Formats: sequence, C-alpha cells, structure tokens
Amino acid sequence: MAVVEVNHPLISHKLTFLRNKNTDTKLFRETLNEIAGLMTYEVTKGLKLEEIEVETPVMKTKSYILPDKAVAVVPILRAGLGMVEGIITFIPTAKVGHIGVYRNEETLKPVYYYCKLPEDIADRKVILVDPMLATGGSANYAIDYLKKEGVKDIVFLSLIAAPEGIANVVKKHPDVDIYTAKIDEGLNEKGYIYPGLGDAGDRIFGTK
Ligand code: PRP
Ligand code: URA
Repeated sequence: MAVVEVNHPLISHKLTFLRNKNTDTKLFRETLNEIAGLMTYEVTKGLKLEEIEVETPVMKTKSYILPDKAVAVVPILRAGLGMVEGIITFIPTAKVGHIGVYRNEETLKPVYYYCKLPEDIADRKVILVDPMLATGGSANYAIDYLKKEGVKDIVFLSLIAAPEGIANVVKKHPDVDIYTAKIDEGLNEKGYIYPGLGDAGDRIFGTK
C-alpha cells in the first residue's frame, strides 16, 4: 500500500488554476487533463514491459514495449471523465470502462447507477480515476465493484484528497495505491474538501 502525493512544480502551478473559482470551464477542463497526463508518468512507473527485437537503421537490438493488454482506465462518473483524455494520450492501448456513482447530498453515501467495463478488465492494471477523494465512499464502492469483476491490480488516481477519504480507502482496500496531486486539510460540514476546488463535476461540465 502506498499513498503518494505527487509533488511537482508544474502540477502545483496548474492546480492553482483549478482551485481558483474564477477559472472558466474551458481552462478547467484543459488543465485537469494536463495534470492527469503529468500524473500518469508517476502512476505508471512500475508497469511491466515486454522485450522485443527491433531493427534500427544501424543494427538489430533488444527494446521494450508496453503489452497491449497492460492498462484499463476507469473514470468514476461524472468527474473522472475529466481526466481520461490526459491519461490515454500517453497510453493509447488502454481500454476505458465507466462506473457511475454519485454522492447522496444528505447522507454522502454513494449511489450506483451505471457500469460498463472492458471484457478483459481482470487481465489489466486498472487506473481508477476521480479528481475528488472526499469521504472515500465513491472510491470504495468503485474498488469493491472492480474487485468483484476479478480485477487484482488497482491504483486510484485523484487530484485532491481529504485525509478522511484516504484513511477510509486505505482501511478497506490496503492493497490499492493512492496517487494524488494534493492532500488537502479536511472535509467541511457539507462533506466538501477544503480548501478544495468546489464541485469538480459541475466545474468540468458547467452545471450546478
Ligand atoms: C464527486 C466526486 C467523487 C465524489 C467524492 O462526485 O467526483 O465521485 O463526489 O466524494 P466521496 O469521496 O465523499 O464519495 P459527485 O457525487 O458530485 O457526482 P458527479 O461527479 O456526478 O458530479
Ligand atoms: N466532490 C466534489 O466534487 N468536491 C468535493 O469537495 C467533494 C466531493
């Protein structure tokens, strides 16, 4: 189990735009995908490669490629969608599944409404993505679901995480590594991360 706060000046710089309440939808979407792309570099460090022979203009040599079946990206709807493009830019062979879960605003409990996963999901490393890890209810629900589908290798990628949410996921799923751009201070009385960035889904899609 690992909880990794990915500290990098480019990520910290871009995160400031996402936190700013005056940032418009276009810049918010673009920046979120950019950060997701930068974090992909860190999250995929341990991926196993296949050795192949390749012929350079000079000679034959051994080289390394990512197996086609290496990775699946699974966004938690809706806000996770805002990170997918940034990740698959770097892993074009990744398949993409979707899990639809929203938080009940009163109870803060996850409510399931949709799932569609690649057929061979159990053979892949799954990068489960959601920009906000607040109470951890949605992440835990999605991880449970993936494990029931036979997935053995899951990493959770978020943008901002609350200590409470991290603790809940670590307690229930100690085998899942958590990567986040920032561990924030906590959750307010409405279950929002502070200082946070507000409602990620609304800011990505321009809803309220
Ligand atoms: C947000 C966020 C996470 C969840 C985090 O989704 O994108 O999925 O809340 O909260 P939790 O850790 O307490 O479960 P939301 O319920 O707002 O749904 P949406 O993405 O459809 O707007
Ligand atoms: N979901 C969000 O989008 N933002 C929060 O701060 C908490 C949950």
